[in-house]
Amino acid sequence: MDLQNKIAVVTGGGVRVGRALVLALARAGCDVLIHYGRSDEGAKRTMEDVVKVYGRQGEIFSADLATPTAPQAIIDRAIKTFGKVDILINSAAVFPNEDTFENTDAAAFDTLMHINLRAPYLLSRAFATAVDDGTGKIVNITDARIFDVATDHFIYRLTKLSLNTMTQMMALELAPNITVNAVALGAILPPPNKDRSYLDELAQEKVPLKRAGSAEIVAENVLHLLQQDFLTGVTIPLDGGQFL
Ligand SMILES: NC(=O)c1ccc[n+]([C@@H]2O[C@H](COP(=O)([O-])OP(=O)(O)OC[C@H]3O[C@@H](n4cnc5c(N)ncnc54)[C@H](OP(=O)(O)O)[C@@H]3O)[C@@H](O)[C@H]2O)c1
Repeated sequence: MDLQNKIAVVTGGGVRVGRALVLALARAGCDVLIHYGRSDEGAKRTMEDVVKVYGRQGEIFSADLATPTAPQAIIDRAIKTFGKVDILINSAAVFPNEDTFENTDAAAFDTLMHINLRAPYLLSRAFATAVDDGTGKIVNITDARIFDVATDHFIYRLTKLSLNTMTQMMALELAPNITVNAVALGAILPPPNKDRSYLDELAQEKVPLKRAGSAEIVAENVLHLLQQDFLTGVTIPLDGGQFL
């Protein structure tokens, strides 16, 4: 796909990895619907950069992905603003600190599943219905922990494992009109409450390449997936070899 003048929807596009994805898409020539939850300032700043730095159109739209109506509303807003959609990036997710086998109650389980799995499913369905010219692309942002079996971040892991399997299932379901791929992130950005040195230490200890990644590396690989027309159902691990 030639990304020039394409319309992209990025969930969680106001901050961190999502913001880097929005800016990379704008740099590549896309107009972008920047979905966000609470990061009002981040979303506005990202939109300003889309317009002022890259000369593309941006629109911001807040919706809580825990609610079942949000996904359709996001796609509807993109169509209303830009007249069509070509690209969907499912990046928004929650990563709770306390998420163990013992301490996750039914409400917390449901919320994680709704935001990390149901929302990408409903967004992808709404997107697939809206795409009508045969060239749609979906990229899901998942986690390299899916390549390992462990029990920390218990329900989060389940959501990302399911998102990865859903990537393959949707690749079959939506072929030949829409490709569906994923990137699985390892040590990319420190958690919001930690600084870069935390991530660098972790990378020294656990990552064979002895360095952490960056949001820009994620964006480069997502752009690569979007530009390929013979790739579908693929997950690129972006983990420096951590889960080999
Ligand atoms: N950072 C890493 O190293 C890393 C590693 C592995 C996987 N990942 C994956 O990469 C993606 C981006 O990671 P990140 O670190 O940039 O994420 P992050 O800093 O935790 O930000 C989460 C994003 O999701 C949005 N979000 C969360 N709950 C929402 C809700 N209920 N409704 C609407 N939006 C909601 C947030 O929007 P607002 O801030 O606007 O509320 C924010 O943009 C995620 O899928 C994550 O699982 C990241």
